[in-house]
Amino acid sequence: SKDSSQNTKKRGKFSGRIGYVLAVAGSAVGLGNIWRFPYLAAKYGGGIFLLIYLILVVTFGYVLIVSETALGRMTKKSPIGAFHAFGKRLPFHFGGWMNAIVPMLIVPYYCVIGGWVLKYLFDYLSGNVAVVAGDAYFSSFLSSSANVEFWFLLFAAITFFVILAGVKNGVERVSKIMMPLLIILAIFVAIYSVTRPGALEGVKYFLIPNFENFSWMTVVTAMGQMFYSLSIAMGVLYTYGSYIDKDVDIEKSTAQVEIFDTGVALLAGLMVIPAVFAFSGGNMETLQAGPSLTFITLPKIFASMGVGTLVGVAFFLMFLFAALTSAISLLETSVSTLEDELGWSRPKCCVLMAVVMLVLGTASSLGYGVWDGVRIFGMQFLDFFDFLTNSVMMPIAALATCFLILRVVGFQRIDAEVEISSAFRRKKLYHFFLKYLAPVCIAIILLSAIANVLG
Ligand code: PHE
Repeated sequence: SKDSSQNTKKRGKFSGRIGYVLAVAGSAVGLGNIWRFPYLAAKYGGGIFLLIYLILVVTFGYVLIVSETALGRMTKKSPIGAFHAFGKRLPFHFGGWMNAIVPMLIVPYYCVIGGWVLKYLFDYLSGNVAVVAGDAYFSSFLSSSANVEFWFLLFAAITFFVILAGVKNGVERVSKIMMPLLIILAIFVAIYSVTRPGALEGVKYFLIPNFENFSWMTVVTAMGQMFYSLSIAMGVLYTYGSYIDKDVDIEKSTAQVEIFDTGVALLAGLMVIPAVFAFSGGNMETLQAGPSLTFITLPKIFASMGVGTLVGVAFFLMFLFAALTSAISLLETSVSTLEDELGWSRPKCCVLMAVVMLVLGTASSLGYGVWDGVRIFGMQFLDFFDFLTNSVMMPIAALATCFLILRVVGFQRIDAEVEISSAFRRKKLYHFFLKYLAPVCIAIILLSAIANVLG
């Protein structure tokens, strides 16, 4: 195979730290924050999930973002090339590919959920506020497979079009306006939601840790979500790191991305979870709804607002942009990895990804409908890909990065890389977590994931 270090493709560049922070935040803020975070927090214990999530973000998440970014900038390579820069033996191949394959497996089902967002935007544009808020609306949509497939294909086609037509920068520029608007709107909806009668119980459930709800699944899931939401352990940050200049303060930008991403997730939690209590009586069944939660809860809030059409259209439009920038970043990373590693032309790599997306995405979208009977380890296709990537592959990919630094690169070179642009303020903590917490944490996660599948 072609050595990626001989690759002559010119590497793009971000304009300074702000450009970099906005690009990473655009990739980080997406379905993970608004769709995935609230349903996991609701399902896996509320406050205790939130607490574990926040601890993981500032410890493990911080360490991994700094590591991946520094390795990317040091080697000027995406993950496979970055691993190869330190050795060519099997473990290096494995570590690099583990990071590189995850986005290829995520982007197909990401587009299925993106399709749900498109469908709702369309519904609000046609003024169906009351219809959409109906109890069985979402489940009947999911079971109409042709419908789900159609919206999936449309979202995937838009993502491809953006990348092929080279209008990626245009979309990212628009989304820089959309993101702050999304935050402002989310603040309003969250305030509306938490002030409904009965919502306070939900606020408590979401914010106050109840240790009775603790389980290892809570930890596993919080960690998987932390990877997913911050775009960690999937090669994205290596790639972005390779685009930045030596004067970008890695620690500072990491902190900003984390604040931004976690802020949006918290807002989404405050919109959705209290509303479950206010509008669905806080029944356990709704709290456990899983992937549908955001899509069955938001419409009820909007319908009760009186200005639901307006809010619905605005919200889902901004939500769409958040999802689109993330999907673009997933697809772009996948395509450029294939270009580098297979040495194929860009159009050929795009075709390959289109096939992967069509096959895996169709399986995911039909899995909630006509293929409901087909289960892998008891999960529908979409849930299976989500579990496989988040709870199995990402921990392995993160572990590979830790070992690369601990065994091969060494702290000295990472420290030096970070210190090129600024003092390494949390150096001691960084060393501590990388050395002890990370490997232990990941081992626990993997073991309990395996126990979960077997049990
Ligand atoms: N972090 C994104 C989200 O929360 C998902 C994503 C992961 C996007 C990796 C790009 C790369 O939706």
